[in-house]
Amino acid sequence: MYSNNQTRRQDFILLGLTNNEKMHTFLFVIFSLIYTASIMGNVTLTVLTQSIQELKTPMYSFICNLSLLDMAFTSVTVPKMLAGLLLKHNYIYFAGCFTQMFFFHFLGSAECFLLSIMGYDRYVAICHPLRYSQIMSRKICFQLAFTCWLTGFLYSFVHTIFTLTLSFCASREVNHFFCDMPPLLKLSCTDTRINFIVILGLGGLAAGAFFFLLTVISYICIISVVFQIRSIEGKRKAFSTCASHLMVVIIFFGTIIMYFRPQSSYAMEHDKFLSVFYNVITPMLNPITYSMRNKEVRLVVKKIFRTK
Ligand SMILES: *[C@@H]1O[C@H](CO)[C@@H](O)[C@H](O)[C@H]1NC(C)=O
Repeated sequence: MYSNNQTRRQDFILLGLTNNEKMHTFLFVIFSLIYTASIMGNVTLTVLTQSIQELKTPMYSFICNLSLLDMAFTSVTVPKMLAGLLLKHNYIYFAGCFTQMFFFHFLGSAECFLLSIMGYDRYVAICHPLRYSQIMSRKICFQLAFTCWLTGFLYSFVHTIFTLTLSFCASREVNHFFCDMPPLLKLSCTDTRINFIVILGLGGLAAGAFFFLLTVISYICIISVVFQIRSIEGKRKAFSTCASHLMVVIIFFGTIIMYFRPQSSYAMEHDKFLSVFYNVITPMLNPITYSMRNKEVRLVVKKIFRTK
């Protein structure tokens, strides 16, 4: 009977953010605006870093990677969510659901790795300024960036394969606005303990903690060096080169930690609003922090306006 059910009803239904229909138009307008702003901001930052000579440094090539990741990441979930706010039943194909989950974890974890690499880059810039161009050579930067994308890909691949081994029985209603693992595990009628071990073991502990530690250690070194600088002006100067990265990291790891909290405290409704934060809001905040806080970007933008 189950297999019969499975062949007849391959699709999932995304239940969406809220079933309060009065909110739907309002949320649609707000999220469309934010999504447009975040795509425009990230496109601008990508174009600037690619075309302006002053911004051809390792840090800005990483920022360019980050912008591309952000654009792709927010596009994995937001358009489908916007459609869900307009439609009565937001169907998603079985394959579409797992593709979405794959890209969500692929791009999300690549971003996490990239942020730690960027922290390491700031560490080298502040603590070993004389050897910076030697340590962060073109080749090494490329290898580091490539590792981020590759590790994200492999990590997500394992996750998705594990979730594909589950079988889904009667209910096809995913209580979320995109196909994420926790709501899918709730629907499954197989024993899901192994998946939770994979989520926590592989994701939360091994990869996440390693890169989180790398970032924390980089910042401990940065702070200890900044404290040794005597003049306040010098302190401010050193710190300003990493302030925007630090801000992005705090926002990003803050939401990641919430994502990996234990299952018992898992409340789907809270989780949905948290996901709005990292799917919709964070990708828009990154270009803003990087362009507002970085002197180089501000100068370049000013120069462009002056020549016009
Ligand atoms: C990503 O970063 C690497 C390393 O700095 C760089 O070689 C590459 O061009 C960047 N990719 C993009 C699309 O900016």
